[in-house]
Amino acid sequence: MHTSILAFRKRRYLWAALALTFLSLLAYWLHDPQEPPNGGTVLGYTLGTLAALMIVWLTWFGIRKRRYKSRAGTLQGWLSAHVYFGLALPVIVLLHAGFQVGWNVHTLAFAVMSLVIISGLYGVYIYMKYPEKLSENRDGASRSGLLDQLDDIDRRSRRVAEKLPAEYREFVLSGIQRTELGSTLWQRLRNEDRSRIQLPHAAETVLNPGQEAAMDWLAGQQSRADADTAPKIAELSALLRSKRQLLRQIGKDLKLQAGIETWLYVHVPLTAALLMALVAHIVTVFLYW
Ligand code: HEM
Ligand code: HEM
Repeated sequence: MHTSILAFRKRRYLWAALALTFLSLLAYWLHDPQEPPNGGTVLGYTLGTLAALMIVWLTWFGIRKRRYKSRAGTLQGWLSAHVYFGLALPVIVLLHAGFQVGWNVHTLAFAVMSLVIISGLYGVYIYMKYPEKLSENRDGASRSGLLDQLDDIDRRSRRVAEKLPAEYREFVLSGIQRTELGSTLWQRLRNEDRSRIQLPHAAETVLNPGQEAAMDWLAGQQSRADADTAPKIAELSALLRSKRQLLRQIGKDLKLQAGIETWLYVHVPLTAALLMALVAHIVTVFLYW
């Protein structure tokens, strides 16, 4: 779905947005306001109103996105239009203001709008890149498929440990119970493995990122093991190695997903700030201009 946002229906919204930009430029060129072009001329008001309506419409996308039953166009089409009309907006606003941008409350609206648009561009990058990276990393499996594989490895480890002395059972159980990946958004973004484990005869739990501590302990046991237990320990080590690989995959999956989520935490609040700045702009213009 995501790669086709920009190419949606032969780029019809790109052409529509370009046509709108071109018409605005033409109007600006033909218009003779008898004063320096600015937001207060007839054309200034027209383009300002157009820009404000476009902003309301772009914001509406957040609501449209969540109306799964709506038949008013596909989400893909909406997003394609959202991107292209969003990019046309700065040109229309600059024409509205007659290119007069100073340090004032009006320019604040323009500045916040630019931030929304820049964050939007980054969002498109994420939406194009991340799904591909996600599926590459998952290698054909789904998130729940990866978690099922993890469950499976844990179950097999417990079964192997059943045949070993009690300390191995506790060791395996503790490693499973204290596996911790991506509990907070921050951890997901940083792909932090906060797993811990209680090693036999140790006073406290130790950090166990990538099952490192567990594998080290097993390697130590392996060197001292007799012919009966050695193969079982080797089996446990192999399972932990698979688990490590899987945890890396899951960690990266969570990280990519978190990247997509956090991006919206920027784009959406900036949109709220833009609406406020816009109201401030319009109110001051009507009160003081
Ligand atoms: C209903 C919509 C709008 C109306 C009625 C409106 C009205 C005006 C008016 C009368 C001016 C001239 C003020 C002056 O020269 O002191 C102006 C300037 C300006 N407007 Fe708007 N505007 C609207 C929408 C927008 C939007 C959506 C933006 C950008 C997000 C925007 C950004 C600006 C900027 C940057 C200026 C130039 C301020 C300056 O002279 O330094 N306006 N607007
Ligand atoms: C002033 C202009 C803009 C406003 C007010 C705006 C506002 C919004 C809002 C409210 C959402 C919905 C987010 C949600 O609730 O989940 C959204 C989504 C999005 N916007 Fe914008 N946006 C603007 C410009 C842009 C631009 C220029 C781009 C790209 C170049 C862009 C790219 C996106 C993308 C990729 C999404 C995500 C769609 C999804 O999650 O499915 N936006 N925008």
